[in-house]
Amino acid sequence: TEQKATNVHWHEGEVTRADRAKLLGQKGATIWFTGLSGSGKSTVAVALEKALFAQGRLSYRLDGDNVRLGINKNLGFSAEDRAENIRRIGEIAKLFVDSGVIVLSSFVSPYKADRDVVRKLHEAGGMDFIEVYVDVPLAEAEKRDPKGLYKKARAGEIKNFTGISDPYEAPENPELVLPSHELSLEQEVDVLLKLLKERGVL
Ligand code: PPS
Repeated sequence: TEQKATNVHWHEGEVTRADRAKLLGQKGATIWFTGLSGSGKSTVAVALEKALFAQGRLSYRLDGDNVRLGINKNLGFSAEDRAENIRRIGEIAKLFVDSGVIVLSSFVSPYKADRDVVRKLHEAGGMDFIEVYVDVPLAEAEKRDPKGLYKKARAGEIKNFTGISDPYEAPENPELVLPSHELSLEQEVDVLLKLLKERGVL
């Protein structure tokens, strides 16, 4: 997306990201869960948020349905709208990370290019972007079908449904792959906590 407004410049304050990290006793980072609808992105984010909170760590979840009811209510599921959805979420995540919060973001984010935009945005600002591929076979996600959306998509009642009538581009080099159909929720949380420690986030 191009810059429309001219004569605008980033304004530095007098309290830095490092100052905030010291105050909070933690470093911000974005954990970016990606995967099919029904893969378990939100479930693991909720569990991780709870575990982090119990350890005295401040995290905040950004979640597909919630964001689409608010700031992104004007966006649908075309490739263009998904790109804009992810771009805005990426910018929001970056602001949270700059503030010192651990962001747990759960969006289908089916396009590699869109996820890479968010990765670059973080890396250019010296911020951690940890891509976690919640990898379940389509058949498994469809069997779960918690919202009945796969059924509707198969019946042609939902167009452009990821995995059925729209693509999902799996990450090629994610920081972590979570096969949620083969792991317990506790195991997933343990793996994530270990990774966050290794990365110096915790
Ligand atoms: S995206 O692709 O990242 O912009 O999508 P996201 O913002 O995560 O929203 C996905 C959730 O919206 C529901 N939904 C659809 N998903 C995929 N394709 C289509 N066409 C669609 N229509 C509605 C679906 O419930 C997704 O929620 P989750 O929690 O992932 O199941």
